Amino acid sequence: MTLTETTHEPVLLHESLDLLNVQPEGVYVDATFGGGGHTRGIVERGGQVVAIDQDPDAHERAERLGGVAIRFVRSNFRDLEAVLDALGVPSVQGILADLGVSSYHFDDPERGFSYQREGPLDMRMGHEGPTAAEVVNTLGEEELAELIWRYGEERQSRRIARAIVEARKEAPIATTTQLAEIVRRAVGFRKAGHPARKTFQALRIYVNDELGALEALLEAAGRVLAPGGRLVVISFHSMEDRIVKHFLKGDPRFRVLTKKPLMPGPEEAARNPRARSAKLRAGERR
Ligand SMILES: C[S@@+](CC[C@H](N)C(=O)[O-])C[C@H]1O[C@@H](n2cnc3c(N)ncnc32)[C@H](O)[C@@H]1O
Repeated sequence: MTLTETTHEPVLLHESLDLLNVQPEGVYVDATFGGGGHTRGIVERGGQVVAIDQDPDAHERAERLGGVAIRFVRSNFRDLEAVLDALGVPSVQGILADLGVSSYHFDDPERGFSYQREGPLDMRMGHEGPTAAEVVNTLGEEELAELIWRYGEERQSRRIARAIVEARKEAPIATTTQLAEIVRRAVGFRKAGHPARKTFQALRIYVNDELGALEALLEAAGRVLAPGGRLVVISFHSMEDRIVKHFLKGDPRFRVLTKKPLMPGPEEAARNPRARSAKLRAGERR
């Protein structure tokens, strides 16, 4: 098999493969294929992979990775059970989810995720449903404030929502940098990170219903994992981590394998900035 290099460095790779406990001939779901970094690791340890990603671009990367051990399905991972049904796979030995967007998304201005690069205000990972532009141009001020507060944990959400509503009276907000500038003018300079970072995070989570999809995936994992099967989830902000933590703790079908979340060591954090906020939690199906 030819394994092509990816430009997205997989986060907590060895830790996640060890916790997945990859066995030769076992079937594993990589629910967030991305650039295939984790999938490649599973295949190198002898596992078979059902690789899922909702992003149409991921399909091409999966084909480049190639090999008989990988079956790629373009789907939202919330539909995990339907995906496995269609493939005739009744149960699996492990499920890995490395949540959020990939470097491919951030690096392509056309996808509209970056507040630093000009592009259409899109943010849809799967190219379905309303874009971020539709959200900022149509929601009422109260709803916008609530969304930015809830999913961005942004303290100045009201001020930002007001600025958005004022700006769109002039003309619809169409690009990433337009929105970033509106937010920057509303909140001013910030020591910690770009002033629009939290607003962009909030819109991305909302547009892709990231928390709803995660909850559905966890529920499905309880049903499709074989006894002894492992669930490994890498999350990148406190809202996701809270959902995973409470699910694993509160669901009698799972035994918690990580009392505290695993986080990247200083070396990985220095090498890969995306890894810095990563938290990994794992559970075993009883
Ligand atoms: C952080 S990247 C994964 C990177 C991958 N582990 C690697 O090493 O290359 C997350 C990927 O999951 C996909 N994704 C996020 N949410 C999804 C969902 N609900 N359903 C399917 N794919 C999703 C994104 O499109 C993105 O490609």
